[in-house]
Amino acid sequence: MSADVTTPAAAEPTARGRKALLEVEHVTQWFPVKSGIVIDRTVANVHAVDDVSFTLTEGETLGLVGESGCGKTTLSRTVLKLLNPTTGTLRFDGRDITKANRRGMRPVRREMQMVFQDPFASLNPRKRVGQILQTPLKQRGVAKDQLQKDAADLLDRVGLRREHVNRFPHEFSGGQRQRIGIARALAMQPKLIVLDEPVSALDVSIQAQIINLLEELQDGLGLTYLFVAHDLSVVRHVSDRIAVMYLGKIMELSPAEELYDKPIHPYTQALLSAIPVPDPRENRARERIVVSGEPPNPINPPPGCVFNTRCPRATDVCRTVIPPLTEYANGHQAACHHPLNVTAEEIATSIRSDASPKLAGDVVPDLVPAGVTAGS
Ligand SMILES: Nc1ncnc2c1ncn2[C@@H]1O[C@H](COP(=O)(O)OP(=O)(O)OP(=O)(O)O)[C@@H](O)[C@H]1O
Ligand code: SF4
Ligand SMILES: [Mg+2]
Repeated sequence: MSADVTTPAAAEPTARGRKALLEVEHVTQWFPVKSGIVIDRTVANVHAVDDVSFTLTEGETLGLVGESGCGKTTLSRTVLKLLNPTTGTLRFDGRDITKANRRGMRPVRREMQMVFQDPFASLNPRKRVGQILQTPLKQRGVAKDQLQKDAADLLDRVGLRREHVNRFPHEFSGGQRQRIGIARALAMQPKLIVLDEPVSALDVSIQAQIINLLEELQDGLGLTYLFVAHDLSVVRHVSDRIAVMYLGKIMELSPAEELYDKPIHPYTQALLSAIPVPDPRENRARERIVVSGEPPNPINPPPGCVFNTRCPRATDVCRTVIPPLTEYANGHQAACHHPLNVTAEEIATSIRSDASPKLAGDVVPDLVPAGVTAGS
């Protein structure tokens, strides 16, 4: 097979009518664990991303949420082809990029950019901001006499002052540095930006400013975002849909507001119950669902549902059969044998999603009968 990007097909229109920009199909990212002094043998694999499928439509923001170590960064780097997927297919703007090498990626590389959690670590401390921004502008082929003006325009666009071009990264606050990181991504005129915890290191008030900036830029430039965060409060207002990840797999994917009103997966419910609400009395009255224990080791994930070792609703089927992703109304999907907040009628009209892991069983979700608890 050619290592170049396959000629674009017409990108699939999605169910909601908009064009698919990024299609991720059954993507797996396993990291080999090596052993041996003389001969390097693979003795196990870290299942960092395990059969994940989703589609991002143009102009959409998909929030990606889950605990530390669940595979968010690995998935982000894989969809941008900074890591080659172990298995699965990636399509960007209708082109199959799964097997594309460096040269093959060149036409699409600039259209997919990443913004990192720690802008300080990702900005060269010895370079002035003007130089930092000129590097991608040059890669895009901007004429030499235009570079300074374009760099200053980018600073304008992200709410910094034009005279900041001569400053070094350490002369900025954390929020300002994240604005520089965003300006650097914009310099390539991307279609897709993957934002890996872009506000996690910032104070709450600054987080809101950066999120507002990202929304303004999206409206003005028609950008598509994959927005990674480790808790559900950050992505609520910025996302059109939200995917919840656990131990390398997608547990639930839903229109954003519906996820908060009607979580179907017990893990999502537990994440939601951990978000503090502003009213202290309401906060105290709320039922906190504590997920006990640590996530299992991704080298040896549990059989069946990977959440079964911590789930209060687990039954025998959960410990043996991988739940398929079941699609309910409004494109709301969840991988759970005993879903929450759905009726028997909603189960009867649900369908098995094509995004289900290939090894998922062929079982239809069932409500846990009253009295059935963990260990039954
Ligand atoms: N290069 C690597 N080699 C081996 N294992 C790795 C590598 N990179 C990540 N992992 C493992 O893959 C799993 C997923 O890691 P990843 O960084 O993607 O998680 P994350 O959800 O982004 O976590 P965090 O919220 O802490 O950023 C972890 O178990 C991690 O230890
Ligand atoms: S499949 Fe079973 S273990 Fe997994 S989340 Fe649902 S009820 Fe819990
Ligand atoms: Mg991460």
